[in-house]
Amino acid sequence: MFFERWFAAGLAGMLAASGVHAQACTSNLLIDNFTKWTSGVNNLESPNGDDGSMEFIAAGTGQVVFTPKDTTSYFYESFECQPAVTNGYGGLQFTVEGPAGASFALELQTTSSCSANDGTYKSHYTIIENLTGSRQTINVPLDGFDNEPNYDAVVGWVWAVFSQSNVQWSIGNITWICGNVAQPTSPGSTSMIPLIGVNCLGI
Ligand SMILES: *[C@@H]1O[C@H](CO)[C@@H](O)[C@H](O)[C@H]1NC(C)=O
Ligand SMILES: *[C@@H]1O[C@H](CO)[C@@H](O)[C@H](O)[C@H]1NC(C)=O
Ligand SMILES: *[C@@H]1O[C@H](CO)[C@@H](O)[C@H](O)[C@H]1NC(C)=O
Repeated sequence: MFFERWFAAGLAGMLAASGVHAQACTSNLLIDNFTKWTSGVNNLESPNGDDGSMEFIAAGTGQVVFTPKDTTSYFYESFECQPAVTNGYGGLQFTVEGPAGASFALELQTTSSCSANDGTYKSHYTIIENLTGSRQTINVPLDGFDNEPNYDAVVGWVWAVFSQSNVQWSIGNITWICGNVAQPTSPGSTSMIPLIGVNCLGI
């Protein structure tokens, strides 16, 4: 009892001191279902897009449809710094449809702290591979990314290094998941492998 009260008070004090307003999530938070694509923003009113890197890109219902030009093509989502740990978001969910067996890199962008807000970020990568060839839902836990991310200061996500160019891909319903996200475990299913020490995307 004493410990719990002490702990709660200590935690509240720490959060107040760090300038983070604790606001534990109660539901998932939609980043983008592409209804605001023509305004150049996502559902959080922050910029998204491909910076002209794709051969073709357009919004569809709930998703963005694109054809990569080559391995430098990418698509990004930005938002106001997300203290995901403090807010209780355990990971990212999105749907993807790409060629069967295809892969791509998912880049997590973090900064040193949401209160610092100095515009700099570090990149962290995971590879998502063995796509089924049909639309599938991918859950990515905030865990296991390389290069020491601060999961409590996330400023963006980037989809990049698509294994096949000149074919159509789509990504949809990009959402922060409230609560824990398990690492994918079933053998043979689409899964993620952390990329160690890779920082070659230049994004
Ligand atoms: C996109 O999300 C908004 C907000 O949740 C919802 O009102 C709208 O129906 C969704 N649209 C699509 C195409 O999923
Ligand atoms: C997006 O989410 C809506 C609502 O859950 C669903 O009806 C739709 O099929 C989804 N679309 C894509 C492309 O993920
Ligand atoms: C993807 O499929 C290949 C070929 O079946 C397999 O060797 C590899 O382990 C799979 N990757 C993951 C991460 O499951």
